[in-house]
Amino acid sequence: MTNRLPLVAANWKMNGSRASVKELLDGFKQNLPGSDVEVLVCAPAIYIPLAADELAGSAIGLGAQTVSEYAAGAYTGEISVDMLKEYGCRYVIIGHSERRHVFGEANGTVANKFYFAQGNGLKAILCLGEQLQEREAGVTEQVLSEQLDAVIAKAGIAAFTDAVIAYEPVWAIGTGHTATPEQAQEAHSFIRLQIARHDDHIADGIRILYGGSVKADNAAELFSMADVDGGLIGGASLKVNDFLAICQAAR
Ligand code: PGA
Repeated sequence: MTNRLPLVAANWKMNGSRASVKELLDGFKQNLPGSDVEVLVCAPAIYIPLAADELAGSAIGLGAQTVSEYAAGAYTGEISVDMLKEYGCRYVIIGHSERRHVFGEANGTVANKFYFAQGNGLKAILCLGEQLQEREAGVTEQVLSEQLDAVIAKAGIAAFTDAVIAYEPVWAIGTGHTATPEQAQEAHSFIRLQIARHDDHIADGIRILYGGSVKADNAAELFSMADVDGGLIGGASLKVNDFLAICQAAR
């Protein structure tokens, strides 16, 4: 099996201020774990230039939380891949459940965004995940397949070579109801298998993060599972010590 470098990504969502961005990044920089875990911060778009300045020379990567599926032009309110790259972003979260369920991004839009970002030099963190009623109805695997297949159909399997996937059960996000390590492992191994049906090598190398109420005290257990390669961290990434403890747990 490939040795996959663990990745821990902060998803700050629509939280913070100039002051808190500086304070959090200062704290992260002071106690960063070694090079055996990759650490990434996905900041609100307006704070990306500030975060880029704060992170200059540090090993912490910078990412965005969403991006336009278009290159440039008359798309009021949107931010392009090139704009994010100009400010030092290397990653972008695509298809987060809040984008899907609050802002109505369908599988097709998510696929377009993934395709455009991956094709133009940003690494996508593609989020997949079922809602509670879908899990209860026993259709989790069907939902995950549909979400994944839409992206593979649009972008091709080769586009996943340096992409990242995040499994984020919607019922676990921001609720405190973390998936059990076994539930996470089951979904992660299913996702890896779906990719392996197209390309074994890519399936073996791709990092699959778990997201949904990861905390300092449950991270190590989750990250110990064979197919869990790190985490996408919401609430706990807004507290310096909690986030650093989660990064440590991924080593
Ligand atoms: P949470 O969010 O850690 O607050 O549950 C995770 C996410 O939405 O990425």
